[in-house]
Amino acid sequence: MPDSLRIAVDGTAASGKGTLAKGLAQALNLAYLDTGALYRSVALGLIRQNLHQNIRAEDAVAAVRAISPLNLPDDAELRSEKTSAIAAEVARIPEVRQALIPHQQRFAKHPPKGYHGAILDGRDIGTIILPDADFKFYCDAESAIRAKRRYNELLSKGETATHTDILTAIEARDQHDKTRKVAPLRAAEDAHHINTGTLSIDDMIAKAMQIIASANE
Ligand code: C5P
Repeated sequence: MPDSLRIAVDGTAASGKGTLAKGLAQALNLAYLDTGALYRSVALGLIRQNLHQNIRAEDAVAAVRAISPLNLPDDAELRSEKTSAIAAEVARIPEVRQALIPHQQRFAKHPPKGYHGAILDGRDIGTIILPDADFKFYCDAESAIRAKRRYNELLSKGETATHTDILTAIEARDQHDKTRKVAPLRAAEDAHHINTGTLSIDDMIAKAMQIIASANE
């Protein structure tokens, strides 16, 4: 096992990649960065200034400058369906992606003190941000399963939504993410694929831990 471990987790919307990354971070004492929260924070900045209707690259880049990557907001609005949709639009702007690369690479290279490395989750971590990561995982599940989980999560938070609307939004976001010109969502060639639709949270984390452990045998 290297002194400082770097792990990339990518996957489709609501695929459980964040849950996997947080579980591995805890088990392996790694600093965790949710890179989707970077794009969401930029989106939220634009929404709050009412600049999200016709997004201009210069406004989005100004919103990147205004965020503090180590201190991202974690309120309900950041996770809302509206912010998710605007985040996927913001993520298509090459200048935004470019401006966010150093934040992510710096975090991976110099994780906060006391950690044994870093784990990042997103869409382009294994392909663009950390092509030399020690381990790469790609999470996916059928969109109906992902939508059901997201629906239940929203209901448990007291929010209202319909299963059909969530399914449509998740599929639209995947389509956006997979077809954009810059850094589209795809599995790195050397990524381990995890079908999160057929595994419990504990089994999903155990499977990834087994892959990591077996590489060191
Ligand atoms: O992961 P999450 O669903 O929070 O990401 C929100 C949006 O941010 C995604 O739909 C995607 O468009 C964008 N994103 C990205 N690259 C990343 C992380 C997120 O394009 N590394």
